[in-house]
Amino acid sequence: MTLRPSAHIVTYGCQMNENDSEVLLAYLEEMGYQWSETAEDADLVLVNSCCIRRSAEERALGRVGELKRVKEQRPDMFIGLTGCLPQQPGRAEEIARQAPHLNLVMGTHNLSRFPELYARASGQAATLVEIAPEPDQLPAFPRGQVPGRRVSAWVTILRGCDKRCTYCIVPYVRGREMSRPAGEILAEVEALVGQGVREVSLLGQNVNAYGKDRPADGITFAGLLRQLEEVDGLWRIRYTTSHPRDFTQEMIDTIASSKKVSDHFHLPVQSGANPMLKRMARGYPIERYLDLVRRVRQALPEATLTTDLIVGFPGESEDDFLDTLRLVEEVRFDRSYMFMFSPRKGTPAASFPDQVPLAVKKERLARLIEVQDRISLEKNQCLVGRVVEVLVEGPSAKRPEIMTGRARDNRTVLFGGDRSLIGSLVPVRLTAAHTWTMLGEQAS
Ligand code: SAH
Ligand code: SF4
Ligand code: F3S
Repeated sequence: MTLRPSAHIVTYGCQMNENDSEVLLAYLEEMGYQWSETAEDADLVLVNSCCIRRSAEERALGRVGELKRVKEQRPDMFIGLTGCLPQQPGRAEEIARQAPHLNLVMGTHNLSRFPELYARASGQAATLVEIAPEPDQLPAFPRGQVPGRRVSAWVTILRGCDKRCTYCIVPYVRGREMSRPAGEILAEVEALVGQGVREVSLLGQNVNAYGKDRPADGITFAGLLRQLEEVDGLWRIRYTTSHPRDFTQEMIDTIASSKKVSDHFHLPVQSGANPMLKRMARGYPIERYLDLVRRVRQALPEATLTTDLIVGFPGESEDDFLDTLRLVEEVRFDRSYMFMFSPRKGTPAASFPDQVPLAVKKERLARLIEVQDRISLEKNQCLVGRVVEVLVEGPSAKRPEIMTGRARDNRTVLFGGDRSLIGSLVPVRLTAAHTWTMLGEQAS
């Protein structure tokens, strides 16, 4: 019996990238590879990269650098760099020059050509650099199952982004919006449910735009949610990310009347100050955002509300920053993802005047985190004593006797239990609150 070669994929960035790694894994499985738990032991390693902020870029490049030493011991190892980082104009060649131990550097639009590129790269000594232009149509992708995700799965419904937020690199590296046909999405979800998946997270940079590029199909995001609601055996539906500007009342009503769509609204606001929102080209003043929050809470008073915030955007004054702090106090988000502005080459904001010094950004981020973390903890504390329905995902990383899962509102809950519970819905009484997670015990 010959031993099958092994492959490992290191993934950075958003869920879209995680989902792309599943596609890559499916190709690798077709090519005869089996999954390796570590990159160091694998015959083939792909680093699926992100470039949303400089830190993300540095992490991916750092990993590529580390793999050089591993390859020195095992020269037959195949190493590839994929994802958003090399898709930035001019970057792929530069990286290939700096890291000649890479066999392949490919961009986001090459995903479906991976088997062919792999074959070509394997047959040559030099790094194969291949950055394809945007396709006219989305190809259909296979999908593999990255070990560890059984109960919950990602399903991409829309690729690319037509917005032009002035700070953001995504439209440059992911191209314009292209929706997958609803029939294809439905078939994928049904197949996943057949494999035991109970929850799907629908992915897109702006899921609200779903269907806009397929006018002949006459389907909207709300319509897609209604179709998925009918899939037997599917218990929960999540989606990310939705742009506040395009969040329609039809969507709020559909979600409110759905039994499966989670009571969690992730509505990235970015800033609480109108001059900043304008310079970011977000397309809404803060008053409209607050009106959306009000309508969401009216329809679903207990819904979880989370957001993304950027501090230190060019021109952000102390007063602008205080507007963001006030917004956080006023809305009382359950959780926020908070970032320092990171200039991305080629985006308008990178060359705006009045860049904020790093020390100021750091100081603002620390103040913002302090306020948000206090609110997150307070909101979690209010839930102690309640019984929630947890979809059990698996044992916690450090303690096998502790199971982790998520409540309907997307809160992570840890409780004592065994592996037989994985994949089921378990009533859990919440006993203690942390900032990011809740502890509980099984309620009968
Ligand atoms: N499509 C999503 C965002 C994806 S990026 C949306 O519009 O909601 C996730 C988050 O990263 C953004 O919401 C933003 O808060 C942050 N981000 C994007 N570009 C950034 C940059 N250049 N510097 C700092 N944060 C950034
Ligand atoms: Fe980036 Fe804005 Fe598109 Fe989100 S909506 S991916 S922040 S350009
Ligand atoms: Fe990063 Fe690309 Fe996602 S830049 S956030 S991996 S779309």
